[in-house]
Amino acid sequence: MMRRFEGKVVFLTGAATGIGEATAKRFAAEGAALYLVDVAEEELGQTKEACRQLEAEVVSRLCDVSSELDVSKSIGEAVSCFGRIDIVANIAGIQLWHHTTEHPIEDFERTLAVNLTGTFLVCRDSIPFLLESKGSIVNVSSTTALAGIPYSVAYAASKAGVLALTKSLAVEYGKRGLQVNCVNPGGIKTAMSRMPPVDDIDMDLLLRQNPLSPFVEPEAVAGLIAYLTSAEGRHVNGEYVRIDGAALA
Ligand SMILES: NC(=O)c1ccc[n+]([C@@H]2O[C@H](COP(=O)([O-])OP(=O)(O)OC[C@H]3O[C@@H](n4cnc5c(N)ncnc54)[C@H](O)[C@@H]3O)[C@@H](O)[C@H]2O)c1
Repeated sequence: MMRRFEGKVVFLTGAATGIGEATAKRFAAEGAALYLVDVAEEELGQTKEACRQLEAEVVSRLCDVSSELDVSKSIGEAVSCFGRIDIVANIAGIQLWHHTTEHPIEDFERTLAVNLTGTFLVCRDSIPFLLESKGSIVNVSSTTALAGIPYSVAYAASKAGVLALTKSLAVEYGKRGLQVNCVNPGGIKTAMSRMPPVDDIDMDLLLRQNPLSPFVEPEAVAGLIAYLTSAEGRHVNGEYVRIDGAALA
């Protein structure tokens, strides 16, 4: 394993499971110090322990990314622990499935609050430190930002919002040395890609975005995030990268 992140400090959300867990371990294996946040206490502790086994310096904290107070406290604590932030990975997310005519407004608003407002808050509060370190942000969007998906309008809208936010931040801060990209996965083997819990599903519509190859492990996305935030990926800015086995090619 390369050690591309020696001396770098990574702030990572959604660290408990899936893509966040895999990405935390990847950064740890490559020498980064990590500040990990999530709402799932037990699994977050397990990720922290796994990163420590890889000899990384790790601090973790329960933080609901949709809470302005939680996010500002977490960023503040990360900076007081490590003195800097070099890389931010916004990976926390939820997907609540509904037929649109039966979609409760609470679930629509919650999805936007976690996926979009959460990403905004972490970016807003970390950018002052990333401007000092000439740092890098990767946001996790989705193929659903690029092509329609049934039974998940709030999720799709939130992920399209993340894509637009990503490009806008890259334009606003690129001249000052900040790098902001997003990744658009599809067909990754995590809890989120299980069969949706809704009745009367039209499978043709649901499978429309499936990859041409089998679903892959979350480590595939971790590798892409690591590339984008490494020195080699430096000139990629304001970009979105599909990682979907040619689903939308
Ligand atoms: N699995 C896929 O195929 C796929 C495809 C496209 C995008 N994504 C995106 O990848 C990201 C990671 O998802 P995953 O597939 O690993 O699923 P996952 O459910 O395993 O991971 C999501 C993580 O976010 C955490 N989380 C949820 N709400 C939170 C909150 N309010 N504050 C902090 N943390 C919170 C969860 O506890 C969990 O650890 C998500 O943003 C998801 O939308 C996944």
